[in-house]
Amino acid sequence: IPVEDFDLVIFGGTGDLARRKILPGLYRRYRSGQMPEGARIIGAARQDQDSAVYRKLIGAAIKEFVPEKYRDSKSIAGFLELISYIVIDAQGAGGWSDLKKLTRKDVVKAFYFSVAPSLFGDLAERLHTYKIADSQSRIVVEKPFGRDLASAKALNAVLAEHFDESQIYRIDHYLGKETVQNLMAVRFGNILFEPLWNSQYVDHIQITAAETVAVGSRGAYYDKSGAMRDMVQNHLMQLLCLIAMEPPNEFEPDAVRDEKLKVIRALDPVNSSDIVRGRYEANKDGPSYLEESGNPDSSTESFIAMKVNISNWRWKGTPIYLRTGKRLRARTSEIAVVFKDPPHSIFGKQEGRRGNVLAIRLQPNEGMTLRVTIKEPGPGGMRLMEVPLDMSFADALGADAEDTPDAYERLIMDVIRGNQTLFMRGDEVEAAWAWTDPIINEWQERGDMPKSYDSGSSGPEDALMLLHKDGRRWREIK
Ligand code: BG6
Repeated sequence: IPVEDFDLVIFGGTGDLARRKILPGLYRRYRSGQMPEGARIIGAARQDQDSAVYRKLIGAAIKEFVPEKYRDSKSIAGFLELISYIVIDAQGAGGWSDLKKLTRKDVVKAFYFSVAPSLFGDLAERLHTYKIADSQSRIVVEKPFGRDLASAKALNAVLAEHFDESQIYRIDHYLGKETVQNLMAVRFGNILFEPLWNSQYVDHIQITAAETVAVGSRGAYYDKSGAMRDMVQNHLMQLLCLIAMEPPNEFEPDAVRDEKLKVIRALDPVNSSDIVRGRYEANKDGPSYLEESGNPDSSTESFIAMKVNISNWRWKGTPIYLRTGKRLRARTSEIAVVFKDPPHSIFGKQEGRRGNVLAIRLQPNEGMTLRVTIKEPGPGGMRLMEVPLDMSFADALGADAEDTPDAYERLIMDVIRGNQTLFMRGDEVEAAWAWTDPIINEWQERGDMPKSYDSGSSGPEDALMLLHKDGRRWREIK
């Protein structure tokens, strides 16, 4: 769907996110013809340089972060023409009048705050003082959106001084992933699943976001954050909401976000015995978490597994197990809905049968698998076996997996379209912190230390126990 002409100003335009994700994503939209002729992209940052130098930087970023088959010199040159650069002092007066002159009146104006949250207030205020933003403008902010309820509330308040909630786009890039949206299509576009989608038929749900990467050079940031703040409070919580929410009455931003909010508010407080924290040890491929964090006294977790209960009519009694970590065996993110066994087996006792599972793979190899029971082929009698009904999106759509737009491409275009469905509302973010705060506070009060786990493993042993003690087991990370 084409978008209107726009001015997109990226504060922090020379930063890592801009180079890795935002500008390469915009380039790909340009190349696929989605960028209108009247699109303008303005990088804004402290560095003293001109537009020509900035374009070179972005050209290099495209080369580094866009796969070769999507790069051609004509598109790159055309895209770079849309870009200019402005030196800006976020906390002073420098550059703001120039920015005012650069932005146009009758186009969509979006301001991407790809900067430290401590600057959000300064930017928001100056956009108003210099009359650059108007009541139609949009601002985009990134996680981390606060580090607890109090700081998230403070950020929301600072933004609310100058912008209405309908103008604020809080990014959680997991919501831009193709399969995450497909989750809603599958749930609410089919008659098949929804009648079974409750505690009567679902034994439990597993949500896994496993990474092979270490914290690497992000040690200083990560050590203040940990897996709970970095992944659970936002990405995993969003997945949990989408899998557990009631059907919204329409696919409209607030209808969807109202339902998500209800899920967060229905989460029970978590018992400390239902949480396992871990941190990775060194192996031949890399140093330990403690070394990388640069903090020998660190008590931060690089892995977390937890059991979550939702107290509402639909889900009471069906636990949701969450798990995420760095330096694990494989990079895989998936949601698995594990159904109960049929009430009675007419085939007698069949060892090893494991029942239906709907596994929704976010990455890699996006797709969906439904495990079903069939008869083992051949004359050996009525022996049952399980087979996957497999739908790989790449196969189904005949498209190369790389052709699916990256989360950022989709989300930025949604900002220009003015569609907030895939963005977090302020009250959602606050509710998620209100749920995580007591958990984190308790660790601090107790001086809780994460368990160590081997790099390249599935996490600490205790994480396996978390399910074993409930008579269940994790799906393999592969
Ligand atoms: C980010 C986290 O939000 O998500 C990172 O800060 C994490 O620590 C990343 O690696 C994971 O994103 P993806 O899209 O690779 O699953």
